[in-house]
Formats: sequence, C-alpha cells, structure tokens
Amino acid sequence: MARILITSAIPYINGIKHLGNLVGSQLPADLFARYMRARGHEVMFICATDEHGTPAELAAAKAGQPVAEYCADMHAVQAEIARGFRLSFDHFGRSSSPRNHALTQHFAGRLADNGLIREVTEQMIYSVDDGRFLPDRYVEGTCPNCGYDSARGDQCDNCTKQLDPTDLINPRSTISGSTNLELRETKHLYLMQRNLRDKLEAWIDSKHDWPLLTTSIAKKWLNDGDGLQDRGITRDLHWGIPVKRGDQPWPGMEGKVFYVWFDAPIEYIAATAEWADANGLDDAAWQRWWRTDMGAEDVTYYQFMGKDNVPFHTLSFPATILGSGEPWKLVDYLKSFNYLNYDGGQFSTSRGRGVFMDQALEVLPSDYWRWWLLSHAPESSDSEFTWENFQGSVNKDLADVLGNLVSRVTKFATAKFGAQVPAGGSFGPMETALIADLGARIRTYESLMQAMEVRKAAAELRAIWVIGNEYLQAAAPWTVVKTDPEQAQAMIRLALNLIRVYAILSQPFIPDASATMMAAMGSEDWTWPDDLSAAMRVLEPGQPFTVPENLFRKITDEERADWQTRFAGVRT
Ligand code: 2FM
Ligand code: ZN
Repeated sequence: MARILITSAIPYINGIKHLGNLVGSQLPADLFARYMRARGHEVMFICATDEHGTPAELAAAKAGQPVAEYCADMHAVQAEIARGFRLSFDHFGRSSSPRNHALTQHFAGRLADNGLIREVTEQMIYSVDDGRFLPDRYVEGTCPNCGYDSARGDQCDNCTKQLDPTDLINPRSTISGSTNLELRETKHLYLMQRNLRDKLEAWIDSKHDWPLLTTSIAKKWLNDGDGLQDRGITRDLHWGIPVKRGDQPWPGMEGKVFYVWFDAPIEYIAATAEWADANGLDDAAWQRWWRTDMGAEDVTYYQFMGKDNVPFHTLSFPATILGSGEPWKLVDYLKSFNYLNYDGGQFSTSRGRGVFMDQALEVLPSDYWRWWLLSHAPESSDSEFTWENFQGSVNKDLADVLGNLVSRVTKFATAKFGAQVPAGGSFGPMETALIADLGARIRTYESLMQAMEVRKAAAELRAIWVIGNEYLQAAAPWTVVKTDPEQAQAMIRLALNLIRVYAILSQPFIPDASATMMAAMGSEDWTWPDDLSAAMRVLEPGQPFTVPENLFRKITDEERADWQTRFAGVRT
C-alpha cells in the first residue's frame, strides 16, 4: 500500500466555477484519488477555496458584502457544489484559515532568516480617483508580451505570462475604469527567486516523467531571462494574511498583506492541518503527509492544475519550499491541462460565458458531466464542449453501451430465471475468451489510470464496456435459452458478475451509477479485480439481485436545442 497525496489547484472564491475550471483540476484530481483508493492505497486528497487577493475583494464589492462574509458564504456554496459533483476531497479548506495565516507567516519568516527576502521601495500604480493603490487585478491593460488588450495586472490570460501592474500598456482601474493613474512610492517584500534558480532548475530537470506541457512551461519561464525575476510577495490591500515574520511584527510592513499567490499554495499544507483539526487529530497526523522528517518520505505527491497555474507551481511555490530550508514535501508529479472551450469560444467567468457548475447539475446528474468532461479532458491540446458532442457521448457511451447492457441483462435474467443469480451450466470457451480479453484490457486501463492519461483511460473503459456488449451479442443467451437453458444460465451468471466488475472499474468516472450497479447486484464487495477469473465468480448462484432504475437516460434533440439556447447568453 502506497501513500498518495493529491492536491487540486484551489479555486478562487469569486463565484461559481465553470466546467472548464472543473475539468482542469478538481475533476481529474478526483478521478485519480478515487482510483488510488480503489486500488487500496492510503490517499489524502486536498482542495480549498482561494480567498485572498483582488479577485475576492472585487467580487465582494460587487456583491455588496463585507469580504469575510462573502468568502464564508461562497465557500459554503462551492463546497455544496463539489459534493454535487461527488468530488471526494478528504478536506475542502479555506486559504483564510488560521492555519494558513500561521503557516504563511512561518514560511515568510524562514525565507527572511535564510536571506531570501529583500525590502524594495518601489513605484506602484496609484489611482487618484479611487484613492488607493491598484495591485494585480485592480488594473487591466495591454499585455507587453502578446498584445492581448485585457491582460490583468498579475497575469495575462492569453499567454500565461506573470506580470506586474506596471508592465501593462495603457493601464486602467478595474474599480472605476479611471486612467487617472500615477506612480507612488510604497515598500514591499520580494522573494529572491533568482538565488534559487540553480536549485529549481536541477529539481525540474530531475523530473523526467512529467508531461511535456508541464516541463515546457516551467522551462520557458525559467530560461526566459526575465522568467525568474524576484517577485513581490506583499500587497497594499486590507484583506489577506497580515505581513509578519513568523509570529513577530515586520517593521515597516504594517497594514500590508501577503500576495495571494504566496499564500494560496501554502494552503495545500494548511488545509491538511485543517483536516487534522476537523478530525480531532494532532499535528503529527498532517505532518506525516508533508514533512519528510515526520514520515512523508514515503509519500508520493501529485498536483493537478490548468496550464496557467504551472509557473506558480513549478517555480514560485517550490522556491518557497526550497528556500525555507525545512524538510517539506515537494511535488513529485505535476499534471497540467490545456483549456476547455465552449461552443466556438472561451469559457469565461468574468464574461459569464459557458455552463457553470451549479447550472450543469440543474440540467443533468453529475455522472453525465463527469463522463463527458473526463473523456474529453483537454490534455494534449485545448478541447471544446459542444452540446452535440455532449448529447452524442451521453447517448452512445452511457445509455447505449453501459446502461443498455445493465438493463438488458437484469431484465432478461429476472424474467427467465428469477431475481437470483442462476446456478446452471459452467463457463465455456466464449466466457473464457471474454475473461482473457477483459483481463488484458483491465491491465491497460490500470496503467493509463496510473499515468493519469485521462482521455485514454476513458476510452479504454468504454472499450471494456463494449466487449461486454459484444460478448452478449455473440453469446445470445436469449436464443440459447430455448435450446440449452443451463448454458444460458451460465452466460447470465457471467453477465451479472460483469456488471459488478464494471461498477468497480467505472467508479472513479461515474460514482453514482457505479453505486447503483453494485447495489443492484446485492453486493458491497468493491475489491479491485486483480484476479479477474475469481472476480467473475464473486456473485454466486442464488445471490439475489434487482433490476436497477434506468442508469442513464438519453438526451433528446429538443433538450439539446433548448439547452443550447439557454446557455448561449451571458450569465449575470
Ligand atoms: O487559478 C486559480 O484558480 C487559482 N486560484 C489557483 C491557485 S492554486 C494554488 F496555488 F493554491
Ligand atoms: Zn499576453
């Protein structure tokens, strides 16, 4: 049994996430967590809300709420939707937690002790009309790198380049739209990432098995010349983690907070501490996941995120960890995703374009979305959601292939032999061939899941469903029953066992349908089919089963057209 630590990029608190956000981090992380648990490993799966910085302040202002109250409300909303999508976090934390305050201040103190923080008096954008400094997202303008005209002060959405507000061409205030901006002096802390460049490079170079998308982005910013600039880790904002050096005040930094991207990844650790607190456990319980001097040396740590997050996780956060000089766990494998587009354009939170997580669940149960999103995960390139494609996948893969098999087998078996696994006959050459074929495919599925090849794993799972249908088609128990009822019973016994095995294999993708299938087979045995031949005999003659409710319904053309229209506009 291995120990597997999994973190999903933590979603910003500002509103409900769209399906593009979901498929870029939380959902594939959940798939992997479920698979690892199913294989018997000890898993710690962590996510949280990212509650600081300008996104939170701007959204709270828009909602007319105090920011702390806004964050508490939105955390509850996001947690509820995560449950709706069956995201199986061990803990869904909050970056505004006392644990994260303490840990963030601790890391800053360690970095300062190690000579990796310098104080910089600099010119920052000050909005005369708004009467305040404009850090990060409080300012927008044209990206100096790619020319995109709505780049934010912290990062360009178009080319992923990390920016400083003063880099922007033609800057404007996002509060008032004012261009009456001037530079004023203010003092900030900078993390001297440059001093850690060699260490970071050696570490990235040692990751031979990382996906190309991850290493290419990391290398690009490492070698870009200005890619690894020292970075400001404090801001002139009210909401955030107060700047302190450990638990001591930091002279000259009163009234300032840490930059959201400094404290957000530290929340992965803090959320694990929150998990321990919530479960009445001591510090050793979370430290054994994170401190290599406390038992984490045998932990394998996987991170999941969209490509825009890669620079922060391959450079900035590791700089914090390495710079601390303490034995914290670094990521072992970083799985990153391209973007999912929506019907000919981009999903966009700020523009309210696409399908958002709450809306998706109003339309159909989570398994439908999970299946489509995971089987179309934007891995090697960006991918696109269209309603036609969604309808096609649901109707073919889920309803025709899997749902149909389950309903056909259970209905036929009940009608002919009653609601118990039939006892007659024994497995013949066709059954043996199916078990051999299936066994080989399961081994392929396992290696794809282990490698986090999400789309390929989905395709393999679908192929596993298909060969069950092909077997039934060829074996035709409904015909055989007329001449050789014993043999038909053996076929049905195999098919019922197949349903249970499908429940186990499919559970990481479609947990609700899997639970329904398992319950219908009257079993609670979720043991992974390492030995398929034995697994195909777990449901013994006489074992009662039921016909499950229709597992998946088809999406009609009218519904598709209706949803297409309903989600064509902009969410306000
Ligand atoms: O891009 C985002 O949605 C960020 N909130 C991700 C933060 S991940 C990490 F650093 F915690
Ligand atoms: Zn750009």
